[in-house]
Amino acid sequence: MAITNISRVSETILTIEGKDGVDPASSDAARRQFRDTLGHFCTGVTVMTALVPGTQELVGITVSSFNSLSLDPPLVLWSIAKDSVSYGSYQVGSAFAVNVLSAEQDQLAMRFARTGRDKFDGVPLHPGLDGVPLLEGCVVYLECLTEARYPGGDHDIIVGRVRRIYNIGRAPLLFHTGSLRGLSV
Ligand SMILES: Cc1cc2nc3c(=O)[nH]c(=O)nc-3n(C[C@H](O)[C@H](O)[C@H](O)COP(=O)(O)O)c2cc1C
Repeated sequence: MAITNISRVSETILTIEGKDGVDPASSDAARRQFRDTLGHFCTGVTVMTALVPGTQELVGITVSSFNSLSLDPPLVLWSIAKDSVSYGSYQVGSAFAVNVLSAEQDQLAMRFARTGRDKFDGVPLHPGLDGVPLLEGCVVYLECLTEARYPGGDHDIIVGRVRRIYNIGRAPLLFHTGSLRGLSV
């Protein structure tokens, strides 16, 4: 049966500890508040590396949406914005690598968060599967094949099957409320 009338928010606006509940799609201000709200979920920081399909040209993008998905089979996921230049890479069946950044790699995080052709200039690399490079100095590496891509609003969700892992072990870089900070362990 088709759902014809979806009530987005319950009629009663609740207040919790003095804060009113907000419908995140109700206004521009509410949309900004949605972004800020998500920023309170503390994450690690990764750079996804890959090749432009059919070329040897390297692409890399700073990503905080990375997460584990499945242990058996070994799957991970992350999402890529539709307006990112490397949106056309990370095709199903192609290789990519998850580089989990260490506490000292905040400059690298910012470099790969800016669209541009010089992202890899002077960055020390390790060779990886299918020519996909691994960035030196990371905490762990996961070499993957893109298993599936699903639409997710203004992003695509990318599911990767993990083929090889390296667990180096260093203090990680964290992302919280728009700031990068190293975790001291
Ligand atoms: C800490 C941090 C986390 C980010 N996470 C993501 C993400 O999960 N997905 C995404 O598409 N962009 C994310 N971005 C933004 C991209 O890194 C940025 O748009 C980048 O310029 C895209 O590169 P491209 O346009 O060359 O593909 C993040 C940026 C930062 C600084």
